[in-house]
Amino acid sequence: MLDIECAARGLPQDAPALMERVAKSVCRLEGIDGVGAYVRVVDDEAIHAINRAERGVDRPTDVLSFPSIAWRGGTARDDRARLRREYDPETGLCFLGDIVISIDRAREQAAEYGHSLARELGYLTAHAMLHLCGYDHMTDGDKAAMRAMEEKVMQDVSLPREGGFLTDEELFERAESMLERAYAPYSRFRVGACVLTEDGRTFTGCNIENASYGGTICAERTAAVKAVSEGATKFIAIAIAAEQEAAWPCGLCRQFLREFGPKMRVIVGKKGGPLYTATLEELLPRSFGPEDLLK
Ligand code: THU
Repeated sequence: MLDIECAARGLPQDAPALMERVAKSVCRLEGIDGVGAYVRVVDDEAIHAINRAERGVDRPTDVLSFPSIAWRGGTARDDRARLRREYDPETGLCFLGDIVISIDRAREQAAEYGHSLARELGYLTAHAMLHLCGYDHMTDGDKAAMRAMEEKVMQDVSLPREGGFLTDEELFERAESMLERAYAPYSRFRVGACVLTEDGRTFTGCNIENASYGGTICAERTAAVKAVSEGATKFIAIAIAAEQEAAWPCGLCRQFLREFGPKMRVIVGKKGGPLYTATLEELLPRSFGPEDLLK
């Protein structure tokens, strides 16, 4: 249904499939089918230029939609005759219009709300698709109707929470479930971890000790190498569960994690206890990272 073109770097692997699912959900909930839309994912500079040229607004924005149909009497569901008239036998679809999304703004907003980039792209797709279907947010009433549809869509594609794919508690639960896998016969200090990556995936790990003590790997690094080896190199958050006492990551892990998300949220706690959070930037200020090598 969506023809997605990405002219910017860093589109999460799973984002196009998620955006397609979102678009299908919008149409199902609106009660229309046989439609298509064109989506361009660009950077801030490109969306700024489009915003200026098309709308006379001289600034970047997160999403722009250009409906090709002016629906009469409400939204697409109220004007099905029009939908049939707009059918293009060449494509076999009714073209709803164009969507432009800034990946830079989406990334910023995802960090602000503490959820994944894929979820933010999904949400922006829902918002834009609803505009193409005739929804708007000019009056309070229209805005409420549009918000309600957005919520329904996000529920429908299983991305319902404001906090993103997972809450801190859920991420922590996954870390906690790894405590039993910890291989810690020497210290008996069991640790479990769970990384949340930008594309919404999670990767768990536990500490793995060795008779040659220096060979020990912390839970955080176990989770991190599992993520990176599966192609997920941008981390949004990590939860760390310890059996005895909440433990912040060791210095080595802070440095290791910093590579894959200098601003990631770090959630720690002990089994059954309260959670504490910080950003990695707070835990490792004035750090050294890949950018320093490129200077
Ligand atoms: N450990 C972790 O897994 N993560 C930390 O942040 C601190 C330490 C593990 C390593 C070792 O197996 C045990 O805890 C004692 O140092």
